Amino acid sequence: MLRIEGLSAGYGESRVLREVSLDVPRGRTVCLMGRNGVGKTTLLKSVMGLLPAWSGRVLLDGEEVTTWSPDERARRGVGYVPQGREIFASLTVEENLLVGLEAMASRRAAIPDEVFDLFPALRSMRRRRGGDLSGGQQQQLAFARALVGRPKVLLLDEPTEGIQPSIIIQIEEVIERLKARGDLSILLVEQYVEFAARLADDFAIMERGAIVARGATRDLNEDVVRRYLVV
Ligand SMILES: Nc1ncnc2c1ncn2[C@@H]1O[C@H](COP(=O)(O)OP(=O)(O)OP(=O)(O)O)[C@@H](O)[C@H]1O
Ligand SMILES: [Mg+2]
Repeated sequence: MLRIEGLSAGYGESRVLREVSLDVPRGRTVCLMGRNGVGKTTLLKSVMGLLPAWSGRVLLDGEEVTTWSPDERARRGVGYVPQGREIFASLTVEENLLVGLEAMASRRAAIPDEVFDLFPALRSMRRRRGGDLSGGQQQQLAFARALVGRPKVLLLDEPTEGIQPSIIIQIEEVIERLKARGDLSILLVEQYVEFAARLADDFAIMERGAIVARGATRDLNEDVVRRYLVV
């Protein structure tokens, strides 16, 4: 499981995260919500080790990883699907997936079949350049790349952003299948409330770098949505 304890972080002198604490137990999906610019991506970057913690701790299965590099965290079982996808445009689909494998520094040479079972469209596009894919296909590729190392903790940053409805449905099905395994901790950043409500067990809402509301997703009511989420 993933545990975040009193985490503060920011850019230069400016503090963004204010003592954020959040647990994502094994087998559960937690949705992190909040308006633009409140610090959701910053939190995922800190958890991945792309941004140093100023204070507080990040733990994976009880082990503190706060000062570990992103590669070390990936090898320890953290998968990250960044906002805006960030695939390598000049590399093929297959090469993008191999980059995900290399980050694991594992001896496993091949991309696990289950990745193509989850994203069958990628199998036939193996030789195409990432930059030639549609936005939705790139999102699937970014997702698949995060799965090649069989993560135990998955960080998803707005997987539905700018994606056509048919691909959103596919991504939702993939998350459902991953959840059904029962052993993955998923931290999903999502502004599409209905999508989040369908997938997440619990929610947490951020405002100005702090968590201001949390609970079971079934209790996510209109008052909460209007107060913290509607622009
Ligand atoms: N690289 C950076 N350097 C300096 N400030 C940054 C950087 N990235 C983000 N910020 C600032 O940090 C704050 C939080 O940004 P962040 O990207 O974490 O928000 P977010 O909740 O993910 O927003 P969105 O919903 O638009 O993705 C914002 O004020 C933003 O301007
Ligand atoms: Mg963001």
